[in-house]
Amino acid sequence: TIKLAIIGGGSSYTPELMEGLIRRHHELPVSEICLVDIEDGRHKLDIIAGLTERMIAKAGLDIKVNATVDRREAIRGADFVLTQFRVGGLAARARDERIPLKYRALGQETTGAGGFAKAMRTIPVILEICRDIEELAPNALLINFTNPAGMVTEAVSKYTNVKVMGLCNVPINMHYSIARMLGVKPEEAYLEFAGLNHMVWVHRVTVGQEDKTGQVLDMLGNGASLNMNNIAEEPWDPELLKAIGVIPCPYHRYFYMQQAMLEEELEAAESGGTRAEQVMKTEEELFKLYASPELNEKPKQLEKRGGAYYSEVSLQLIDAIWNDRKSVQVVNTRNNGAIRNLPDDAVVEINAVIDANGAHAVSFGTMPPQLASLLQSVKAYESLAVEAAVEGDYTKAIAALALNPMVPDMAVAKQLLDDIIEQNAAYLPQF
Ligand code: NAD
Ligand code: G6P
Ligand code: MN
Repeated sequence: TIKLAIIGGGSSYTPELMEGLIRRHHELPVSEICLVDIEDGRHKLDIIAGLTERMIAKAGLDIKVNATVDRREAIRGADFVLTQFRVGGLAARARDERIPLKYRALGQETTGAGGFAKAMRTIPVILEICRDIEELAPNALLINFTNPAGMVTEAVSKYTNVKVMGLCNVPINMHYSIARMLGVKPEEAYLEFAGLNHMVWVHRVTVGQEDKTGQVLDMLGNGASLNMNNIAEEPWDPELLKAIGVIPCPYHRYFYMQQAMLEEELEAAESGGTRAEQVMKTEEELFKLYASPELNEKPKQLEKRGGAYYSEVSLQLIDAIWNDRKSVQVVNTRNNGAIRNLPDDAVVEINAVIDANGAHAVSFGTMPPQLASLLQSVKAYESLAVEAAVEGDYTKAIAALALNPMVPDMAVAKQLLDDIIEQNAAYLPQF
């Protein structure tokens, strides 16, 4: 049977994961779930644990639920460790979103300078978690959801001995939306994904023997939606899509339509608040519902968050590993030559064959010129930022930020960094 440790168990997303676990219990015999949080998250953790107990009881299953702030006990002997924590909470995210706006730079929680700040806070913590896994559950697989998922996964992959895969719900959302657009079942469409987390492209869509990529691009240029709740829906210009030549992910708007997205963010920050500020309200509403002793299922209101299908991807993955399925899924994993324009040890988001031994990236080949330089500069930013986070190297941090396409220039990079360090002093032991 399976022991699962979930770090950041107090997340409002956890009931979705529980719903998925319960649904798949016949193929995934989970016997113990440890929900781990920190003292500050105690209140949320206890509410989530209560709801989890009620969901399990309703399903008539025998699964032990343990809510704890003792991370080491939770990790000891675990088969899978899932990480979904947020260092500094939503208040830190709101700062990440607002700091860059002062410099007329995009303030997004996972890309640009906001994502950089989140990476700096998160990487020291994930490395501590990995030291515990190395010692107490050396065979466990770490499934990382914590954003920026590509960078956090690369830190684990380069600096620890822990087996890791990074996950995002963007690929499965694209897959489901594209299948719906084409009027086929998801399993009838094959999508070739390759790129980076929150910067992944679909290079080809096939249904049977037929290449449907052009048709999907036409539909996208004609207003068909391929979006997530957390991203402003700036429509795609068909000429831009032609110039890219492949299907962009929703987050690509921050790269390809940076000015429009910045204007949109500046406006939102003035009126309804940044995304974090909106999510704070949703979260309050959710926890009120979760605390009700009558509730014994995932409530509909959770759909307001951007994380749709996140439990689906994590459980498909656990299932493929536990049952040695050899199925193709999109994960963040070591490149190992799959994308020829990137180093072997870079973590990329790509189709991979998943079996009991882990993920094996499917060979992609060479990125075309119109995609290659963006890909390489964003990966250079990510890898250098990971190094800066691990070493606490201020100079590398400036150099990294300056490579990010959402940072206007190196002088602004330095101002941003100083601001980020000052406003995150409590969470950046390395600087
Ligand atoms: P949240 O603010 O609810 O955080 C989850 C929990 O983490 C909180 O209860 C908090 O107390 C806890 N926490 C903070 N520091 C911790 C630590 N050091 N150890 C253990 N727990 C700690 O956040 P959320 O909105 O539920 O998101 C959680 C994380 O998952 C974020 O990093 C978010 O970016 C990520 N996420 C990723 C995807 C994806 O596609 N990869 C989808 C959804 C969410
Ligand atoms: C998408 C992304 C996640 C991100 C989430 C934000 O699902 O893939 O990586 O964490 O959106 O959603 P939120 O509701 O927190 O804004
Ligand atoms: Mn994601």
